[in-house]
Amino acid sequence: MSLLIKGGTVVNADQSFVADVYCVDGKIAQIGPHLNVSNLPSYTQDTQVIDATGQLVMPGGIDPHTHMQLPFMGTVASEDFYSGTAAGLAGGTTCIIDFVIPAPQQSLLEAYHQWREWADKSVSDYAFHVAVTWWDDSVAADMETLVKEHGVNSFKHFMAYKGAIMADDEILVNSFSKAWELGALPTVHAENGELVYQLQQKILAMGITGPEGHPQSRPPEVEGEAANRAIRIAQALKTPVYLVHVSTEEALESVTRARNEGQRVFGEVLAGHLLIDESVYKDPDFNVAAAHVMSPPFRPKQAQEALWRGLQSGNLQTTATDHCCFCADQKAAGKDDFSKIPNGTGGIENRMEVLWDAGVSTGRLTPNEFVRVTSTNAAHIFNMYPNKGTIAVGSDADIVVWDPAATKTISAKTHFQNVDYNIFEGKQVTGIPSHTISQGKLVYQHGKLMVERGAGRYIKRPPFAPYFDAINKMRERTPPFSVDRDG
Ligand code: URP
Ligand code: ZN
Ligand code: ZN
Repeated sequence: MSLLIKGGTVVNADQSFVADVYCVDGKIAQIGPHLNVSNLPSYTQDTQVIDATGQLVMPGGIDPHTHMQLPFMGTVASEDFYSGTAAGLAGGTTCIIDFVIPAPQQSLLEAYHQWREWADKSVSDYAFHVAVTWWDDSVAADMETLVKEHGVNSFKHFMAYKGAIMADDEILVNSFSKAWELGALPTVHAENGELVYQLQQKILAMGITGPEGHPQSRPPEVEGEAANRAIRIAQALKTPVYLVHVSTEEALESVTRARNEGQRVFGEVLAGHLLIDESVYKDPDFNVAAAHVMSPPFRPKQAQEALWRGLQSGNLQTTATDHCCFCADQKAAGKDDFSKIPNGTGGIENRMEVLWDAGVSTGRLTPNEFVRVTSTNAAHIFNMYPNKGTIAVGSDADIVVWDPAATKTISAKTHFQNVDYNIFEGKQVTGIPSHTISQGKLVYQHGKLMVERGAGRYIKRPPFAPYFDAINKMRERTPPFSVDRDG
């Protein structure tokens, strides 16, 4: 099966150049100006030809933070792996990294197999981080099996959600240490869960029950404290760490300070946090305010500028959505108590276009930097490069053809996402995907999806250093990310 993209400008993280891109059997086979492939055996009358003149040919987006059909806060996210990955393709995202989240005391492996089954209907490629929500020797053993046999190289820790999936310091220290031993990357949702819990009780006791209580119970210090704690724990254990959804100046400062001191710390920012501010929680319509309830919450406007600077300076490396959708009837569970509103918002379909519009069109990011923060850096950090994250011969043919001049108005009425609200509702964007190619197949073209249920593949991600017969050799071996373990 072959496909030819003609006449576009290839934009990679490191360079841009005019070239045709020829894809065969799911891989990029040739790149060059005016390719003559018509005499190749792979070029048949079924070969699709896409005219990309005047357009950009970029690596498909990687969203490293999604939650399809997540069971959470007494309900299940409305977007499943089929509809969610399809919506991603419509927005140029060709790969997601979702989260397996075991219930406390549930075996990590059992949860992993459950999520694999749910994800079987995906239409784009996907991988999994696995959350560590409790601790004993069996959890350590499951982490090892997940790394060695199932291609999981990152583990998630929720420092929030007390009484549910929260990881306390004991879990963090044990799990970070085990991750290091396995050559896997610990990631954290940085919010102090005890503070959140106590502030929620206090605010409810003051009679504030509506969605405006949500950001009040999660002020920036809540995130700043947890971010710094996770980073310092990682420093003490000499392990790298990745912070998901950095949303405050306080957390960004901790990331920046640690990076300036040579610590291997990575930071992710959500498209929503870059574009939306906390005023949404004051909307008099409960449905609108509740639709924006997510954690960490949307922040004061000045935080957005700081996050953009974080992205521009390279202190934040990846952009994600935390796509976790709940419809109005689900959000209604918190009508009389904001702490019961299921936390989560969508965005996978719009991440790339809102980032292009607010990032590239404004001059904050170059097109190459755009590729870096929407795809390449995630591929590097989570060890999928160069199969993903670049247009190169031999790489997966996951490609978005981008029309930088085309415009659209984002709306829940027209989006593919399976949720009744769009946090970017009414936003007009310039720069949108015209075509998306997944595994060398055209799956989206000018507003039309052509996806196949189950076509997505589970992507195994190897650890960052050879797993080994272990601790004895720890000091001799090359550590992951070249961190000086003895220093
Ligand atoms: O509000 C959010 N972000 N919901 C999904 C779970 C998480 O914290 O990432
Ligand atoms: Zn989170
Ligand atoms: Zn999340």
